[in-house]
Amino acid sequence: MTMQRARLGVNIDHVATIRNARGGAHPDPAKAAAIAHAAGADGITIHLREDRRHIRDADLAAVRSATSLPINLEMATTEEMLAIALDYKPHAACLVPEKREERTTEGGLDVARLHDQVAPFVTRLRDAGIRVSLFIEPSIVQVAVAEAIGAPVVELHTGKYVELVFAGDKSGAAEELNRLREAAAHGHERGIEIHVGHGLTYDTVRPVAAIPEVRELNIGHFIMGEALFVGLEAAVKRMRREIDIARGHA
Ligand code: PXP
Repeated sequence: MTMQRARLGVNIDHVATIRNARGGAHPDPAKAAAIAHAAGADGITIHLREDRRHIRDADLAAVRSATSLPINLEMATTEEMLAIALDYKPHAACLVPEKREERTTEGGLDVARLHDQVAPFVTRLRDAGIRVSLFIEPSIVQVAVAEAIGAPVVELHTGKYVELVFAGDKSGAAEELNRLREAAAHGHERGIEIHVGHGLTYDTVRPVAAIPEVRELNIGHFIMGEALFVGLEAAVKRMRREIDIARGHA
């Protein structure tokens, strides 16, 4: 079956991780953004963490000058990050947990518990014309709360699915894939755009990319790791192809 093409957002955080390991300016995340763009990425994702462990403030402008692709800024729900986002005005912002107590057991932002804290961030970013997504577990309850607080997009956390696949737990992985499918269908029916991400690899991306409601996949760590062996351009192209094959476009 041929489905609508899904976008690939390439997360370049770990280029900055390597740069920061030595200090200095190399390797340059902005250069990675330009190469990912040329290789067929549809967006660039960056996470400015509170502790600046990878992407730093100066990278925001550098990445923007390096590519015309839409930028998706992952951010914690803090006043500091909100001020930065409102000033930077990325195409999109994805609200993510950074502290243990903001996460569900698996790792998504626990909006079912934190809705009062998260809702004003959704409103203020939306009012500024920034497309807001919430990084949540693939659970109907989390999706329903995301809808209730007005999030136009959710990004479903695929980390648990990937872990189960690599642990060889076939029935657990199948169950988790079903949770992803159900959450995607539930959100889509309510007019929420569905994204997915975290931990995806060549070996795990296809079943997730084949979920019809998925419009965007955000992938970083694995692509950057592969880039060490085959180059960033080849790694992005291969991931792009895996997604296209899964959706009947290859
Ligand atoms: N989506 C979100 C919301 C994330 O926080 C991350 C990791 O920064 C990713 C996707 C990408 O995950 P990975 O680097 O494991 O591909």
